[in-house]
Amino acid sequence: MNSVMLVESITELESIYALNLQLYVGVEEIISKKKAEFAIQYLEDKGIPPMIIARESIDGEETAKLLLNYISSKNIDTTLIVIGKENPPTNNIHFLSSALDLKPIIMIVAQTLGVTAHDMANKVVPTYFPIPITYFTVLNRAVCEVFVEKVDHPGEYAKVIEENAIFTQDFIQNLIRQGNRELFVHKDHRLTFVNNVSAEIINKIDIEMLNKDEQIQATESTSDLLAKKLELVGVTEETVQLANKNMKQIAGLAKKNKKLSYLLEDLLRNRSSFRYRKIMILSYIAIHMMKHIDWGTPEQEAKLSFIAFYHDIFLTSDDEVMIKSKKDLRDSDLSGMKKTIVDKHASMAAELVSQIPKAPMGIDTIIRQHHGNMNGIGFSEHYGANISPLAIVFIIAEDFARELILDDKARFNKGKIIRTMKERYPTARFAKIIDALDKVTI
Ligand SMILES: [Fe+2]
Ligand SMILES: [Fe+2]
Repeated sequence: MNSVMLVESITELESIYALNLQLYVGVEEIISKKKAEFAIQYLEDKGIPPMIIARESIDGEETAKLLLNYISSKNIDTTLIVIGKENPPTNNIHFLSSALDLKPIIMIVAQTLGVTAHDMANKVVPTYFPIPITYFTVLNRAVCEVFVEKVDHPGEYAKVIEENAIFTQDFIQNLIRQGNRELFVHKDHRLTFVNNVSAEIINKIDIEMLNKDEQIQATESTSDLLAKKLELVGVTEETVQLANKNMKQIAGLAKKNKKLSYLLEDLLRNRSSFRYRKIMILSYIAIHMMKHIDWGTPEQEAKLSFIAFYHDIFLTSDDEVMIKSKKDLRDSDLSGMKKTIVDKHASMAAELVSQIPKAPMGIDTIIRQHHGNMNGIGFSEHYGANISPLAIVFIIAEDFARELILDDKARFNKGKIIRTMKERYPTARFAKIIDALDKVTI
């Protein structure tokens, strides 16, 4: 049997690995232990599996080192992935920084177990792909149709949940009582399903338990999950709650950095999307600019965190986020429906934030104005005199963030960007705010 040992204190990772490694590599069992001591006890009794994934240290215990010492004392060939700091591999030990970066983990596990891409592609997958029913206890909606195997006709399946339909936990508990240990999704939907359930589980992890790279990846995953949910179900209690949580996570991460360069490096290292980089960098710049503006207060900083997070929330792809003028929109390859959303995204986002309980006063107005038009529809190159000062801070911060993200060397030439911006926004009101930008530590 293909089994992988996981030594990890974050329990959610066990379910994420079990599902993904089963799907991509055919791993049948995850042996999960919470620290080295328990893992070594197991190895002593049952022998060493070919693959172990372990966190570098857990609660002060040098987990990976203890495991390594044990394994080398037994002279057994096993592959270890150590989650801690990214480093080149030595012998059979791989060093990764994030337990949430599933791609390299899947690749190493596949290599170790001798599973090739060819094997995976040619693997015969049953038409109805089984998912342990426990995964449905963390969901309230299925992204694809879900089936049960008929009790009296094994091999036949009956649909129990429609695509995108909401279901209750009572419903799932009932299926469990009826003896269902697995539910089934069509094999063509298995990747979508597994990705969605993984994102839902990642969202449940307490972010404080994660290291910095993992925090970046977890908040990006939640941000993508939110974008998809908004697209699908719009503004509901669930999406509003998720958005609020994600916004606080992102503002917290942006604030933690002493220099913008550190944040940029983290985002580059984690291969974050343009969309996510933009939210993070923009939050950082907007918050820090406020510290150098005479009317800046902590309340204004909080407002900017909100605005940075929500203003483009209806834009779900990098292509959409890149659009900043009427011409960009006209020339884009987006579908007609997407083009309409991009055109109206500022007004839609303003509408959304006005429904958020306890959102700071007036942020809907600024979100509506962020492309220069007072009604939140379309794009304007000219900013009228009636645009609010906070909107100006935001527009400048966003433009600067964009320059930095499009060219990761640009940060070494801040002066050049600032000169271009002064030409782009020639009025005195803008010039004064651009000066605050000059004082932000990069
Ligand atoms: Fe934007
Ligand atoms: Fe926008």
